[in-house]
Amino acid sequence: MRGLRGKAFIVAGGATGIGAGTARRLGEEGALVAVADINTAGAEATAERVTGAGGRAIAVGFDLSDDKSVQELVTRTIAEFGTLDGLHNVGADLSPDNIGRDTNLLDTDPEVWRRTLDVNLLGYVRTVRAVLPHLLDKGAGSIVNTSSGGSLGNDPSHVAYNASKAAVNQLTRHIAVNWGNAGIRSNCVMPGLVMGETQERQNDQELQRAFIAAARTTRLGAPDDLASVVSFLLSDEAEWINGQTWYIGGASHLRQ
Ligand SMILES: NC(=O)c1ccc[n+]([C@@H]2O[C@H](COP(=O)([O-])OP(=O)(O)OC[C@H]3O[C@@H](n4cnc5c(N)ncnc54)[C@H](O)[C@@H]3O)[C@@H](O)[C@H]2O)c1
Repeated sequence: MRGLRGKAFIVAGGATGIGAGTARRLGEEGALVAVADINTAGAEATAERVTGAGGRAIAVGFDLSDDKSVQELVTRTIAEFGTLDGLHNVGADLSPDNIGRDTNLLDTDPEVWRRTLDVNLLGYVRTVRAVLPHLLDKGAGSIVNTSSGGSLGNDPSHVAYNASKAAVNQLTRHIAVNWGNAGIRSNCVMPGLVMGETQERQNDQELQRAFIAAARTTRLGAPDDLASVVSFLLSDEAEWINGQTWYIGGASHLRQ
């Protein structure tokens, strides 16, 4: 893809799943990748896959809920690569202790709300606040956030998760509206059911059957289905695309 080679990107949540897929794809395209995650061993494994395939990557342990570690991630990336050209926000707290207790409004503990919003929404606010000044200095940069098909409103459960993801859609538009004229692009992917490590581990057969029944496709999603779209949105091929939220999920939603 045009405009990825030699550019540096942070994948914030790149240990497994969609983020790991994006890191690998960016590496294949000749980009310099900072694979960042709270799962440091997973980030290291992803970075090793990138370098093993001939690309350039570093692994950085960080926590989306911790301002200091987000700042350190950005400082470390620029020190390593000498540049910073964009960000893929993809981390989310999908732990059983958090999303596993996220049901409906009446039954969901406020602590689950706090944790979910702190990581899934404020985490993206923290990374963008740390990255954006550098992109503005260059007069160019691309940010791709990750929300969810759940943000579109059909899921009767996961109230905190889906609210956090709907807010990520709006955060995406806010960035584009304010800084598009300064050369900053901000877009968002809303995945359907994508079988990364976390979903394979959960192996929710009922969810998989329901998804396929609602979709217009022959299979469930794979991380590479998202990685290609995210890489495209980060690249110069997408330089006229800004402020968009794209559902990538086998057409189980049809949007205008
Ligand atoms: N896979 C799907 O079906 C699906 C569907 C809709 C939306 N999504 C979204 O896509 C993104 C990626 O999901 P995935 O399926 O690849 O899951 P995943 O579990 O493989 O990836 C999430 C990553 O976020 C990291 N993370 C969690 N808490 C963190 C924190 N506090 N700080 C830094 N990193 C943290 C995890 O360690 C993990 O590597 C998430 O934002 C998720 O909400 C996924």
